[in-house]
Amino acid sequence: MSESTSQMGVFDTMYNCRAMRRLDSREVPETLLRDLISAANQAPSGSNTQGARWIVVRDADTKQQLAELNRQGVDTYLAPLIDNPGSLSHQSGDKRKRMVDAVVWQRDHMHEIPALIIACMDFGAPATNDMIARGNGSIWPGIQNLLLAARALDLGAAPTTLALNDRKAVAETLNLPDSMAAYALIPVGYPLGTFGPVSRKPLEEILRFDKWSD
Ligand SMILES: Cc1cc2nc3c(=O)[nH]c(=O)nc-3n(C[C@H](O)[C@H](O)[C@H](O)COP(=O)(O)O)c2cc1C
Repeated sequence: MSESTSQMGVFDTMYNCRAMRRLDSREVPETLLRDLISAANQAPSGSNTQGARWIVVRDADTKQQLAELNRQGVDTYLAPLIDNPGSLSHQSGDKRKRMVDAVVWQRDHMHEIPALIIACMDFGAPATNDMIARGNGSIWPGIQNLLLAARALDLGAAPTTLALNDRKAVAETLNLPDSMAAYALIPVGYPLGTFGPVSRKPLEEILRFDKWSD
């Protein structure tokens, strides 16, 4: 870890690690970016294969290409939601609209965000659909470590996947060999919004002891 250690405890960090989509274009020091990848690299992987690979994209042209891929993914995702974001039992219409607005902001500013971190797996052999599906379990612990580390360092970040729908285009953009697959794009920068607590379902709804019951 570099010098900039945070005083946040692990529980505080987890409970306040919201997806932060509105980010300043101000550069993030490379030491902090390295700290994020180092934290991600401490996560476990199935059979300890340590296949996770991380690409920190700062180059303007590459960011532009990823922003365009994200735009296509977001537009398809949002088409049915943009005028009517709806609501969920645990997320009011107001909150859902705020999320959609933030996704739209991120879509329009993605290329200005200082670092776009791509979480990949390298399977050491041409990646089949089955390998890619199983790779999820070994990449997401690292992604969550990265998000927690960003929050502890007061950096904004969010896990995103919509830019990565077109696997061939992503591989071309990032020069990925056929043994690698990209799983998440995590934009990182200094937050424009304010940090706050996450809002999650109550334990009564999601926890049972011993056996499931309604
Ligand atoms: C697997 C996965 C995929 C996601 N993909 C996107 C995405 O493509 N774009 C985006 O803006 N957010 C994406 N998110 C972020 C979620 O929308 C966010 O984590 C969720 O709404 C909870 O937000 P909160 O932590 O701020 O409460 C993704 C999250 C996960 C775990």
